[in-house]
Amino acid sequence: MRADPLHYLSDELHLLKEQGLYRRLRVLDGEQKAHTSFDHRSVVNLSSNNYLGLTTHPKLRDAALEATRTFGVGSGSVRTIAGTMDLHMQLERRLAQFKRTEATVVFQSGFAANAGTVSSVLGKEDFIVSDELNHASIIDGARLSRATIKVFPHRDVNAARAIVKELPRDRRRLLITDGVFSMDGDLGAIPELCDVADEFGCIMMVDDAHASGVFGSNGRGTIDHFGLHGRVDIQVGTLSKAIGVLGGYVAGSRALIEFLYHRARPFLFSTSHPPAVAAACLAAVDVLESEPQLIEQLWENTRFFKSGLQALGFNTGISESPITPVIVGDALLAMKLSDALFQEGVFAQGIGFPTVARDKARVRTIVTATHTRDELQFALDCFAKVGRSLGVI
Ligand SMILES: Cc1ncc(COP(=O)(O)O)c(C=O)c1O
Repeated sequence: MRADPLHYLSDELHLLKEQGLYRRLRVLDGEQKAHTSFDHRSVVNLSSNNYLGLTTHPKLRDAALEATRTFGVGSGSVRTIAGTMDLHMQLERRLAQFKRTEATVVFQSGFAANAGTVSSVLGKEDFIVSDELNHASIIDGARLSRATIKVFPHRDVNAARAIVKELPRDRRRLLITDGVFSMDGDLGAIPELCDVADEFGCIMMVDDAHASGVFGSNGRGTIDHFGLHGRVDIQVGTLSKAIGVLGGYVAGSRALIEFLYHRARPFLFSTSHPPAVAAACLAAVDVLESEPQLIEQLWENTRFFKSGLQALGFNTGISESPITPVIVGDALLAMKLSDALFQEGVFAQGIGFPTVARDKARVRTIVTATHTRDELQFALDCFAKVGRSLGVI
């Protein structure tokens, strides 16, 4: 019999189990909503990125169904061959207006937008100066670019400046940060990094995946929130989180977007979104503009839930957004806390290495605009009960 050349994978999995890092996928039985059913258990859902509840919004659902009836289920090609539909172009124009930039390009995911952009805009003679907690898609894009990667401690602008100061001025230098950090919920040092970029002539890039639909007027993101229009050369947003659908986009100058049309590999070598996705995203931008009360409700829920966790004595770190981590340190304890909460009727995913540092395991919570006050109070009561029984508080 042939020996399995992949046998080492089972060893790795065994190790993950020992370390408490093995994750069984929870299966969603119905719709992605604030109160729903996972693994046949009815739970208050604090684990999705569905900040505004748009995954089930009637306007998006109708737009997707209508586009499917009219245009079918697939685009049939990559964008650069035959897969650019009028809906894709409408969405790009609409997002550019929304983000107040010259142009945008839509990618299949936020991951593809980051990785495809960083890897094509920089080359092996260049430098990337990156916050240590930037998203994996930025890190992978940076590696693919073959540029020299310099990492600065989280939000440490002085350290970033010291790195940039030493770099050769005749090389391209990219300064890059997440807008909202997905595991801690804090904001990137964007205004200060923009100052460094201006001082030294760097390219400034912000990944606003978790800020899209959450920060800024009508959810325009952190650049709008901080009043930095015109000072960030490359803005990435996602259509997969608050927008409720799927995809990512890059907003910037017309030249940047046309360059990405020609050089960004996920754009060139992977099929474009089905019409339903583009149409639902267009409807989502309508909703952001016409229903700002959703964003207000998101923030009201965030304040209530975050202050409730803090009053109970949980360590919620440095969050400034609807992402509130409950940091416990040990991965096994985080998974135990998550499992016990699930048994009580609350789904808050446990997260450990490599997504966060080994000693910073946590349960991550994200409230949405569509959680009711009763649901959030129920979740707080469960956190209190389980947190006490496990000695976390
Ligand atoms: C900061 C950040 N950037 C990019 C992404 C990727 O976005 P998407 O899920 O649309 O691929 C994520 C999602 O995990 C994220 O948290």
